[in-house]
Amino acid sequence: MERTLVIVKPDGVQRGLTGEIISRFERRGLRMAAMKLMQIPLELAQQLYAVHKGKHFYEGLIQYITSSPVVVMVLEGKDAIEIVRRTMGATNPAQAAPGTIRADLALETGRNLVHGSDSLETAKYEVPLFFNDDEILSYPRDTDRWIFE
Ligand code: RTP
Ligand code: MG
Repeated sequence: MERTLVIVKPDGVQRGLTGEIISRFERRGLRMAAMKLMQIPLELAQQLYAVHKGKHFYEGLIQYITSSPVVVMVLEGKDAIEIVRRTMGATNPAQAAPGTIRADLALETGRNLVHGSDSLETAKYEVPLFFNDDEILSYPRDTDRWIFE
């Protein structure tokens, strides 16, 4: 089982799309392992997006992600990292495949609604930025055998 960090970004919460976005991951079968509503402080945003420091969009990105509350969660499942990324769609909603969250619900790269860890290495870095070990729950669901072969 992989774990990945997912964030419903400020535009998702402000637009009332939190439930819709979580629901897409939940209906696919991914298991929620942790979740909270929070406003990301500046230092945490800088850690989350450290790889983008110096890029032309960095300042706007930090401003955006810290501007209003977000819903942060850890999702669990086989290949959870890739499945979340494919459910989100391409970074630029204009190029995202129809049926993805970003294609169906967003228009612009700078307002693309959702974050997901992009690799196993990134997930291992990002999850502990937001959750302590004791906040991440591992539990069996009765439906797991109908979702995982
Ligand atoms: P995320 O990290 O938020 O899941 O998004 P991502 O992997 O699809 O895209 P990434 O390249 O990591 O970029 C992080 C976020 O920065 C904003 N961005 N703006 N104007 C631009 O060219 C540009 N490029 C990226 C987006 O909000 C993107 O999600
Ligand atoms: Mg990224």
